[in-house]
Amino acid sequence: MEDAAEIILNIDNLSINYKVGDEFAKALNEISFSIAKGERIGLVGESGCGKSTLLKTIMGVLPNNATVLAGKIVLNGKNLLEFDPESRRKTRWADISMITQSALNALNPVQRISNQICEAIQAHKDVTYAEAMQRVEELFDLVGVAKSRAREYPHQFSGGDAPTGNYCYGLGAFAPIGACR
Ligand SMILES: Nc1ncnc2c1ncn2[C@@H]1O[C@H](COP(=O)(O)OP(=O)(O)OP(=O)(O)O)[C@@H](O)[C@H]1O
Ligand SMILES: [Mg+2]
Repeated sequence: MEDAAEIILNIDNLSINYKVGDEFAKALNEISFSIAKGERIGLVGESGCGKSTLLKTIMGVLPNNATVLAGKIVLNGKNLLEFDPESRRKTRWADISMITQSALNALNPVQRISNQICEAIQAHKDVTYAEAMQRVEELFDLVGVAKSRAREYPHQFSGGDAPTGNYCYGLGAFAPIGACR
């Protein structure tokens, strides 16, 4: 039997639509599932079935023409859909993070990767730059990339190489829940 105490994310009866012109198109229809601590879930489905919409809803980054019609996203016992925008912002990166399909393109090309990750850490935690940098090095260690590479620029990581994949994973390692799209 499922141990309820171990569930960290519960999606309950989630329905989303998009407004396109004067029409409304349903993108998610009564989606429910849970993720337990340590569990990994893969969403598989044909193009347009709503995978990205679901992840954007969980992250709270849906475009303006989307409406949450019904449902709950319960993270650690609290419904994220009832949070005000500032409280929701605080959950991003701290509690839940997202690795996009072209994660490296999401980075500023003229800043060292270490600086960008430090900025994200300092936006959420009251730590010095040196402490944030130590955390960056721990993350690189965690994903098996030499920590000296943290000071490289995004273009020095090629799209398909293994360090890049590991590095991208590291970006998600701030938060207990990571969503890849
Ligand atoms: N910003 C938007 N405005 C209007 N409709 C949208 C928008 N984004 C997505 N849709 C529509 O919502 C549905 C779900 O799209 P979504 O991008 O979530 O699918 P997906 O499963 O991620 O597809 P893919 O595998 O191609 O990435 C599709 O019908 C899509 O056309
Ligand atoms: Mg998608």
